[in-house]
Amino acid sequence: MEERYDSWPVKAYTYSMIIWGLASLLYGVVISLQLVYPGLNFGEWFSYGRLRPIHTNGGAFGFGLSGIFALSYYMVPRLAKAPLFLPKLAKFNFWLYNLTIAAAVITLHLGFSTTKEYAELEWPIDILVVLFWVFFAVNMLGTILTKTVSKMYVSLWYVIATILGVAVLYIFNNLAVPASLFKSYSLYAGVNDANVQWWYGHNAVAFVFTTPILAIFFYFFPKVTNLPLFSHRLSIVAFWSLVFMYLWTGAHHLIWTPVPDWLQTVAIAFSLMLIAPSWGSVINGYLTMGNNWEQMKTNYLAKFFILGITFYGLQTLQGPSQAIRSISSLIHYTDWVPGHVHMGTMGWFAMTIMASFYYVIPKIYKTDLYSVKLANTHFWLVFTGQIIYSISMWIAGIMQGAMWKATNADGSLKYTFQDSITASYIYWDIRSIGGIIFLAGAIVFAYNIFKTIQQGSQASKVKTEGAV
Ligand code: HEM
Ligand code: HEM
Repeated sequence: MEERYDSWPVKAYTYSMIIWGLASLLYGVVISLQLVYPGLNFGEWFSYGRLRPIHTNGGAFGFGLSGIFALSYYMVPRLAKAPLFLPKLAKFNFWLYNLTIAAAVITLHLGFSTTKEYAELEWPIDILVVLFWVFFAVNMLGTILTKTVSKMYVSLWYVIATILGVAVLYIFNNLAVPASLFKSYSLYAGVNDANVQWWYGHNAVAFVFTTPILAIFFYFFPKVTNLPLFSHRLSIVAFWSLVFMYLWTGAHHLIWTPVPDWLQTVAIAFSLMLIAPSWGSVINGYLTMGNNWEQMKTNYLAKFFILGITFYGLQTLQGPSQAIRSISSLIHYTDWVPGHVHMGTMGWFAMTIMASFYYVIPKIYKTDLYSVKLANTHFWLVFTGQIIYSISMWIAGIMQGAMWKATNADGSLKYTFQDSITASYIYWDIRSIGGIIFLAGAIVFAYNIFKTIQQGSQASKVKTEGAV
């Protein structure tokens, strides 16, 4: 049965996930140090302003998409009980995708940027993005349409939402008038541009950091724990309400800006409502564990998934509260926001993706994981690194917000902006330490995966030679 399923794309994207993942984390550590030690800005090509978008795009679209592609190529044919629709297209798309990411890294180093966050790539690269996304969509939707079972498991709905959501948002936000090969002007202006940008920006959170990861969570979590999902009905109700509500929340990035007040209020209301579907998934995860919580001790993978969904739960309480006007006025523009971001990206997103590879790689290489001990070491390193990162940024963020608001009796500002920067250095140093620990965890993960692949490949070679 397993032989029906083409494992080439899963294997290939595993390599790109590891390469782009380690690179983007390294860029993350470097930019975190550059904020404290400006001497590390080695010329314009390696300046903070150019490296930051490489880190963010590399994390989301290099590491993240590679992981999402690999795991989708694994789970969608199995859920559809149908072979991959067009395996040759998947092969071609792998190279197209990697070429696009490499082009993104090079052009961002050279300083070509639209300056819109998460949409910095210039128009020729945008076209490549659209192409690889359409090819991925054709393969996934084609496989789902040819499915041989009647049930649509919730992960398939999340994959479809990811495909459609990213396609619509990416195209609309990137509409631009080219002025030359690497310079374009957005089709929108002023407040409209900001509004479309954050409609896209927040839905990058929804359709890259959330829906595909929920697809992965709902597929792999029952598998690794060997427990049936608590409620498929609850997962479907949560799915439809989540995708409906996310699309209205973009303007919560623009509280206290010239964007119309009513639009900000709509975004705040939908952000608060989002707690329900988000927690629908969290509770479904917890209840799936039922009376089997001893697996947190005995099953290293349960630990990854439960901590992952817990960080998602915390993230989806923190996010809505940040959208409230009074809280936004304290934390917006401060380090609180990177603290929020990295609880989600390092805690939920990276943890869930990496854990799924511990399940998939031994399966497709028909071997055992090289070392469970190393997987546990990986867990504690990324967990500790992420906690240090987020907590240091939350403290720094509240301190910065409070310092900017503090006034003397005569109404003048108590602190200069520079005072708040000087006070932040210690927290930025601590963040870098957290980042280095997280990167060390990711290196342990990569090593464990490579050794497992090597072990599986050697065993199959011996088997083949034995057969000859
Ligand atoms: C070694 C671990 C990491 C380190 C040291 C790190 C460091 C940083 C730093 C210094 C920033 C800039 C913050 C600022 O603007 O002041 C940043 C932003 C960002 N990083 Fe990371 N990062 C790490 C892991 C990740 C991962 C795994 C992802 C995603 C998969 C990610 C996604 C992002 C995003 C989306 C932003 C933009 C946040 C914002 O605009 O508020 N990071 N990171
Ligand atoms: C109920 C769900 C969520 C809500 C309502 C929410 C709300 C928010 C708000 C209000 C901000 C803006 C903070 C500011 O700049 O003042 C923000 C930023 C952000 N959130 Fe969340 N959040 C949610 C879940 C998540 C999740 C699951 C992730 C996954 C990683 C995430 C990643 C981000 C990122 C990357 C940004 C920074 C964007 C930027 O400024 O560059 N959020 N979120």
